[in-house]
Amino acid sequence: MTTSRIPGFYDLTLEERRAKLADASPLSPGELIPLTSPLALDVASHMVENAIGTFSLPLGVALNFMVNGRDVLIPMVIEEPSVVAGASFMANLARASGGFTATSAEPLMIGQLQVLNVEDANKAAERVLARKTELLTYVDAAESSLKSRGGGARDLEVRVIEESPIGKFLVVHLIYDVRDAMGANAVNTACERLAPRIEEITGGKVHLRILSNLTDKRMAKATCVIPVKELEFVAQDGILRYSGEEVRDGIIAAYAFAAADPYRAATHNKGIMNGIDPVVIATGNDWRAIEAGAHAYAARSGRYTSLSTWSKDESGNLVGELEMPLAVGIVGGATKVHPAAQAAVKLMNVKSAGELAEIIVSVGLAQNMAALRALATEGIQRGHMSLHARQVAIAAGASGELIEKVASQMAAEGVVRMDRAKEILMTMESGK
Ligand code: MEV
Repeated sequence: MTTSRIPGFYDLTLEERRAKLADASPLSPGELIPLTSPLALDVASHMVENAIGTFSLPLGVALNFMVNGRDVLIPMVIEEPSVVAGASFMANLARASGGFTATSAEPLMIGQLQVLNVEDANKAAERVLARKTELLTYVDAAESSLKSRGGGARDLEVRVIEESPIGKFLVVHLIYDVRDAMGANAVNTACERLAPRIEEITGGKVHLRILSNLTDKRMAKATCVIPVKELEFVAQDGILRYSGEEVRDGIIAAYAFAAADPYRAATHNKGIMNGIDPVVIATGNDWRAIEAGAHAYAARSGRYTSLSTWSKDESGNLVGELEMPLAVGIVGGATKVHPAAQAAVKLMNVKSAGELAEIIVSVGLAQNMAALRALATEGIQRGHMSLHARQVAIAAGASGELIEKVASQMAAEGVVRMDRAKEILMTMESGK
């Protein structure tokens, strides 16, 4: 049985953490190796053009997550301190009421065909729709690995763009079920196949044929309910600084800021993406696509706003909800060729792309709560400082156990600066 509860994980050495993870996860020590070693150069050189090497980032495991009643260990690839800790902490609070409840829609992607030079766009649109069944059958007649897994063309939609820098034109949307893939290749191939038929029917010229990253038919949603008692904020000195009600209301007020103001919403949503992107990257998925979809969706009303909502229920519990497009896959693309991505998927024990999206959206919600809780109480700098101090200590030349010692002293002094780190380091080294 996988457990996402590994007490004391943070305080273990890296080697001890690996051993604990092998015990707690579905992965054997051997299967963990891809997550702990660099990508082989020959694989890298087949993934992109002109490869000369690889670039590493830390991979941490977020703990305590329970999603839809199942314990999940979350691999997160990220350079920013506090994110893995923040997600793990909030997942622990959410456990008190059963963790995260998440759902995902059918994996329907949208492929777009831009049709130019159409004489009567409205009439052409009608002609395309009248032949929908025939066109979908035509798209599906081509060989495709997704079709054998139950995917394929599902629907056609037609839109007339009335105004643009080049005037009026027609857009055909091909709705394509990509099952467990992210699906970009399948959708683009299908669009290219469909294009000549659309030209015949509309009398126009198909220009672009490409998927849309605003995957608003492929949504994922997570909710969590945090009992107000769990929200009590006890400072490091053991003193209760904020009651549960104060923290809850502070989080709701912070959300209201993002709901009403695009300047704040951008940062609020960045905090959500702090949780989303690291899992997207760890699983070999396209994080630029996810970012593009998330922010376009946040602006869907014409005004950019918060992706999440925070409120209280009748019992006074804090209720969080995050719904956003999440086009991720577990087959094909980098997920297939990158051994660490495969191991990451296995670590989470996910069996479908939808299940992966449900976990990722839950991590986004946890991360959002971590940021809002910190911002609504002592501010984020305090939490950031001890981890930031370690980075400064390393940059100042500390190694081994001196990293922790220099960082702790700077954190205690409340001065985290390179010059101070160097001074402390010199004193410690000379005192050896
Ligand atoms: C920092 O990476 C993320 C935050 O700015 C998010 C937020 O402000 O909600 C702390």
